[in-house]
Amino acid sequence: MPNQLFCIRITDQIYLEAELDKLVIRGGKRLKGSVTISGSKNAALPIMAATLLAPGEHLLSNVPHLRDVSTMGRLIANLGAGFHLENNNAILDCSSIKNFEAPYDLVSTMRASVLVLGPLVARLGRAKVSLPGGCAIGARPINLHLMGLEKMGATITLDSGYVIARAKKLKGAAICFDMPTVTGTENIMMAAVLAEGKTLIENAAREPEVVDLADALISMGARIKGAGEGLIEIEGVSALTPLRHTVIPDRIEAGTLLAIAGITGGDIVINACRPDHLDAVINKLKDAGMVFRPAVNGIRATGPRRLAAVSTMTMPYPGFPTDMQAQLMAMMCVAEGASVISEKIFENRFMHVAELRRMGADITTEGRIATIRGVRALKGAPLMATDLRASASLIVAALAAEGETTVKRIYHLDRGYEKLEEKLIALGADISRYKE
Ligand code: EPU
Repeated sequence: MPNQLFCIRITDQIYLEAELDKLVIRGGKRLKGSVTISGSKNAALPIMAATLLAPGEHLLSNVPHLRDVSTMGRLIANLGAGFHLENNNAILDCSSIKNFEAPYDLVSTMRASVLVLGPLVARLGRAKVSLPGGCAIGARPINLHLMGLEKMGATITLDSGYVIARAKKLKGAAICFDMPTVTGTENIMMAAVLAEGKTLIENAAREPEVVDLADALISMGARIKGAGEGLIEIEGVSALTPLRHTVIPDRIEAGTLLAIAGITGGDIVINACRPDHLDAVINKLKDAGMVFRPAVNGIRATGPRRLAAVSTMTMPYPGFPTDMQAQLMAMMCVAEGASVISEKIFENRFMHVAELRRMGADITTEGRIATIRGVRALKGAPLMATDLRASASLIVAALAAEGETTVKRIYHLDRGYEKLEEKLIALGADISRYKE
């Protein structure tokens, strides 16, 4: 295995360079061809954290090369494990975990770092994880993660911005979430697999990423029933073995490409995707006038001459995903008629609105409700990316806009989309990355 520190330094260098990158997009092209979807970021991150549960060498395939994946790799390496990512295969050697702290500098760059909390308490009996704090899209508390661990017998204290959790041996418990939380469900599931006795998670998140984590844990010897349903039942076991697992395709990357096919009037075959994970999105886009046909390994999406306005509200899976809200809004900016989009998951997820308006979009907001009156065309403009999915929506809009759009702070996009501009160029987009 190559020198770990060497890998990490290279990654740091890539981060520094990417922070200065910008994308220049000349819109108005109809995108055509086929594209292959990468592994899911939000499935890969919890499964990487799950490797902390068992000593030995874990092999995780279809892991996307992304900034967040490198951050999770750095965090796991910081805990004493080995992490190496090559050709989308991650090898994680968790034979010895010496440290139990997730420091502020890593958690503050990626909230998903909180996913090491459950595995560390389960394996080492203690964890010290920096409190994530608010972020660009909302306050995002972790009270439900902590409530679940407390129910399992952990003692939780908050000290100088850190959560400190201790438990000699976690005990199975009945845990009912006030609202479905994705990473909360994942944290408790990972804690429960090594707990003594049975854990029930009621009102659990049903996202495909939760199911993928359960499948990975089951491959390690965990006993889990009901993942993907509202009630998950976990029977604790005394030890787990290293995992061999392939991460599911990224449904949000696939959804973003569907939005691009729709807004550019394009015709795109989306390979290696799971259309069944995108039912709510596909149904909404059908109502907007798009046509979908099955393809050998995914789906073919064709955009209409002009999209029709559709309204939606974001909901936990299987509802319309909040991670696709910004991209749908970009589409609705040029649709015929007025749409209403209501954001029900996060309190501040309309950061893209001000940027879309700079392109000529007619959007008004009242709290978490946006009304979009479609205009004939958007115009290219200099823009600033603010968070991951907001950045994606600006790319969607820019690909259909007249003239040139520059998107700065593109490192947000690099957190969640693997080689996006390469994939778009292959579909005929005019898009270039520049260092500032
Ligand atoms: N919530 C609480 N207390 C908690 C946990 C959550 O009040 O202890 C609230 C949140 O504030 C929010 C709602 O519950 O209002 C749902 O949040 P959830 O916990 O499900 O979100 P998350 O687990 O922090 C994951 C994804 C997000 C995605 C959301 C919703 C990962 C690493 N992140 O976040 O992905 O938007 O679920 O589907 O899986 C993205 O990829 O761009 C992204 C933000």
